[in-house]
Amino acid sequence: MSKSNLLFDVQDLAVKYPNGDFALHHVNFTVESPSFMAIIGPNGSGKSTLLKTALGLIRPTRGTIKMMGYDSVRDGHKIQRMVRYVPQRDQIGLNIPMKVKDIALMGRLLKKRPPRFASSKDKEITRQALEKVDMQDFWDRPFPELSGGQRQRVLVARALAGKGSILILDEPLAGTDAESQRLIVDALEDYHKNNDVSIVMVTHDLNPIHRMVKNVLLLKRTVIGIGAPCSIMDVDLLTKVYGPTARIVEYAGHRYCVTHDSGMDRHE
Ligand SMILES: Nc1ncnc2c1ncn2[C@@H]1O[C@H](COP(=O)(O)OP(=O)(O)OP(=O)(O)O)[C@@H](O)[C@H]1O
Ligand SMILES: [Mg+2]
Repeated sequence: MSKSNLLFDVQDLAVKYPNGDFALHHVNFTVESPSFMAIIGPNGSGKSTLLKTALGLIRPTRGTIKMMGYDSVRDGHKIQRMVRYVPQRDQIGLNIPMKVKDIALMGRLLKKRPPRFASSKDKEITRQALEKVDMQDFWDRPFPELSGGQRQRVLVARALAGKGSILILDEPLAGTDAESQRLIVDALEDYHKNNDVSIVMVTHDLNPIHRMVKNVLLLKRTVIGIGAPCSIMDVDLLTKVYGPTARIVEYAGHRYCVTHDSGMDRHE
């Protein structure tokens, strides 16, 4: 189905919002598929903009961005069929009395043609995905009554239950406690290992995911670094992005990165 084995192929990409400055400029990088990829960088560094541009939701001002050989402008609908996307701030209105099952089943239903009915297979796969993040007992509960961390877990389950060879999650760990983080990270790791699926995740903290990340993109409106986690754990690169207070600390055979932005990032 895919046209290329490059998860991302980005050439001279620039994106300017109509009322602002360039959110991205001179962005060039490639990442091979399959990958577990992390995108890091401080607030406003263009991480969400990069993902939305890749999905065809924003038009590049110049240059190109391709996923699996599909161009964001020309092939937007093909990309959207291939990708399951969990946006940073979900648009689900909390005043609409939807149940957890309605939200979680959307992952399967939205890729069907209308009229959209959930088959018993859809329900089974969705229940299994909720089990992965320990939310199966909330099936009939109203979504707005869940805590923030529980909602994040349901949204990750919805992505896991969906179809498409690429999962893109924009800060799925934001606002979650250690237990929710562990459930989400373990579910993603397990899913990546057992399925031929690439995962792209924006995060402010590499620590919970460093053991499975293959490629890290360090972004600050342009590419500051791209490579394996160990090559990004470099004090020159990190101070360029996070300022002079960024430190790399060696302790008990591990390297830790301490930044104001992310707290501690560990690398073995
Ligand atoms: N719809 C918009 N209109 C105008 N400017 C925007 C819009 N969305 C984002 N921007 C600007 O583009 C820049 C990059 O924003 P973006 O949301 O991509 O950053 P980010 O790296 O995802 O940040 P965060 O870590 O806070 O989520 C910021 O300066 C932001 O103010
Ligand atoms: Mg963002």
